[in-house]
This record gives sequence, structure tokens and C-alpha cells, in this order.
Amino acid sequence: MDISVFGSGYVGLVAGACLADVGHQVICIDVDAARIERLKAGEIPIYEPGLSELVSQNVAAGRLRFTTDTAFAVTQSEVLFIAVGTPPDEDGSADLRHVLTVAKSIGEHMNDYKLIVDKSTVPVGTADKVKATIAGVLAERSDTASRTLAFDVCSNPEFLKEGAAIEDFTRGARVIVGTDSDHVEERMRACYAPYNRNHDKMIFMSVRAAELTKYAANAMLATKISFMNEIAGLAERLDVDVEEVRRGIGSDPRIGYHFIYPGCGYGGSCFPKDVQALERTAREHGYQAALLSAVEQVNYAQKRTLFAKLSAALGDVRGKTIAVWGLSFKPDTDDMREAPSRELMEALWQAGARVQAFDPEAMGECRRIYGERDDLVLTFDRVQAVKGADALVICTEWKAFRSVDLAWLAGELSDKLIVDGRNLYDLESAAQAGLRYIGVGRNNLA
Ligand code: UGA
Repeated sequence: MDISVFGSGYVGLVAGACLADVGHQVICIDVDAARIERLKAGEIPIYEPGLSELVSQNVAAGRLRFTTDTAFAVTQSEVLFIAVGTPPDEDGSADLRHVLTVAKSIGEHMNDYKLIVDKSTVPVGTADKVKATIAGVLAERSDTASRTLAFDVCSNPEFLKEGAAIEDFTRGARVIVGTDSDHVEERMRACYAPYNRNHDKMIFMSVRAAELTKYAANAMLATKISFMNEIAGLAERLDVDVEEVRRGIGSDPRIGYHFIYPGCGYGGSCFPKDVQALERTAREHGYQAALLSAVEQVNYAQKRTLFAKLSAALGDVRGKTIAVWGLSFKPDTDDMREAPSRELMEALWQAGARVQAFDPEAMGECRRIYGERDDLVLTFDRVQAVKGADALVICTEWKAFRSVDLAWLAGELSDKLIVDGRNLYDLESAAQAGLRYIGVGRNNLA
């Protein structure tokens, strides 16, 4: 099939490369000329395991191309994916500006039937807006023949996790398509057929249900995390190790082990934004989504617990040097959007402490966000980060942080304190090494 993907960010690039990899002819379009030039030169603007190889193989095979030429992309392809960003507005609702700009240019340039696929995370009712925008532009076109061009708009939300995006696209649990048209169903089946071989993963539903499914999935996962973080807070006051509780409840298949890891709060470009946007949608419809507000509140508070625990243990942190392991919001990405590390570092700086940080991938991103400052040293590795530090805070569970010599850490850290936002170590081993080790939901803070 001939496919164009609007938006060469995270979702668009992964979708484009994976669709090209199974033989479709794919054109990726972006308004950012510099980004397109970098992509043409084989440079991938984001860190995602396996993506660079996948892109270069498919470019070399002639199945994947990059352009800023919208007219070319629209006329060349039958299927047009919209995968542009929907950043939060000031009030938390999703900003559809980019989505509707793409819709407008599709209307301006389409020359025959097009199937438009909404892949961006968009509020319920957006497909209708995309449809109306295209129809509006077509009706205004000077070439009267164009005014009757047919097109369909369907919803096909993405469920990629950063760090595992290719795996999720190629072997994901489901492909959701919202449409009421048999023709669209047939074309979308053809589009995904190579990834839908062993059992049918495609779930068809109404357009609005597909749009809501995306938000409901993320909100459900965020709810599980905030629930577990709340239980962790309770465990700290009841002298219980929440890790035992996690194993205890996870064994019930109705609950399951996924997404019940207590931590220092969820971050990234999806959960915080999507929970907020869904709550906002509810409010717009006169419905109070009490649970969603609570999920968000618990998460906000959870991100602040790292600093609270550290300063409760150290007293004043002014003049202290705090080592930070992990800056990205989760492992296998360089993404620091809404990362708990940011909340922590900003609180430390405000309190007059210095930070020595290490992250396997996010150092450049950290520099980009915070620039050069006297109270931030980015170190070459995890060992350098703890040299001369008073205490260590772990914000991200990178594999490299999992196995460490705790006795060595106790020797390095002058206050012999670790605040671990990811519960990486065993309580007993930490105590034996002579460390004060404060995790999430594991210590009696009553
Ligand atoms: C999330 C969803 O998992 C994807 O299915 C979805 O497609 C994507 O958002 C999106 O909407 O684009 P992602 O944001 O990449 O993916 O990250 P996750 O792996 O889901 O982790 C989100 C946050 O939850 C991280 O900060 C992580 O540390 C935290 N988390 C996760 C926990 O604190 N505890 C857990 O048990 C699991």
C-alpha cells in the first residue's frame, strides 16, 4: 500500500518504519525541515532501541522516504496517517492545532479517494472535526471536480511504550480501529495484515469508542500506579513492606503483576497529559471524574516524596552534594518530560544543595533543559556521580543500577543514605552494608 505519515516524531517515525518494514511504500512528512534533513542523513532525533537500524534498512530498500512536501505526500498515498503532537493546552485539554492543520492540507491537496487515519492521541469527537475540516476545504476548492472527492476518517490509536515501541507496534496486544465503514475495515486489515498473522488482534468499534479507548487505557494504567503508590504511603505508616503486598495482590490474575510497581510517580509524555485531558473532557461534559483527579493528585504528591524523604533524613540539605542516578522518566529512553528527577533536582537547588547526576541516555536532554549551572554536575558514569556525594537518590530503574556493591556505596556516601524511588535493593543487604536505605513503601516512617 502507499502510505504517508504526517509527523515524524516518536509515533510517526516508529509507525512509518514498521509499516515500511513489511513492504508498504511509506512517506514520512514533517513541517520541521531540519528534522527531515537529519532523517534523510540517517540521523534519528530520538533514542529508541532498534529504531535507527530499522529506519536505515528501509530507507536503503527504497520503501521509506522523508519529505516536507505535503502535496507530494498527499497525492502519492491512499492512506494518510496523522501522527502529530497533541500537547496540553493551558487548561490541560489536548491542543488539536497540529492535527487540524494536517487535515486542512489534506483537503487542499487530495486528488482522489483518501483514507485518513487518526493516530495521534485525540479527544473523543476529533475524527468528526478532521472530517469537517477536510470537507470544508474541499468545498472551497476552485477546481470544482475536487469538491466531490470521497474520503474516510478512522481512528487508530497507538499503544507504544517508549523504549519498547518497535516490539509494541509489531507484536502489540491489539490494533484498535474506529470506523463504521466496511471499506475502511478492509483497507485497515490490509495495512496491518503482516502484523496480524497468528491470531486476529484487530478490534473494530465506533470511531468515538476508539478515541475513548486510548485515554481509558492510559488512565487505567495510571490509576493502577497511583493506587499502588497510595498503598505504599500507607504501608510506610503501618510498618509493612509494600513489596510483599505487591507480590501478594499481583498473584490474583484479576489484578495481575503489571503496573503495580510503587515508585516515585509516573512521568513521560503520555500518562500525565492524557489523565489531565480526560479529566478536562469530563468537566466539559458536566461530569466530575473524581477518580481521575485523585490519580493526578496522588502522582503529583508522589513525585515530591523523594525530596521530602531526603530532607527528613538529612535535616537541612543546604550545602550538601546529592548524587542522582537516573534522569529519564523511565529506563531505555532519554525522555525527561514530567520525570520525577526534575521535581527532585529543582527542589534540591531551591534548598541550596548541589546535584551530581548520571543517566545512561538522558545527559544531553538534561543539559538542554537546565543548561550549565554551578549546582549541576553531569558525570561520566554512575561511579563518578557518587564520588564526594553525601547521599544518593535513585529516580530511574536502569539495568545498570540494579546490581551494585552496597558496601562500596556506603563507603562513598558520607551520610550513608540512599533514597530509592524504585525499590531496587534488598532491605537486609542495605542494612548489612551500613546504609540508611529508604525506598517506597518499605520503611516505617510513622
Ligand atoms: C504509556 C503506555 O504504557 C503505552 O501503552 C501508551 O501507548 C503510551 O503511554 C502513549 O500513550 O503513547 P510510556 O509513557 O512510554 O507508555 O511509559 P510506560 O512504560 O507506560 O511508563 C509510564 C510511567 O509509569 C513511567 O514513569 C514509569 O516509571 C511508571 N510506572 C510504570 C510505575 O511507576 N509503576 C509501574 O508499575 C509501571
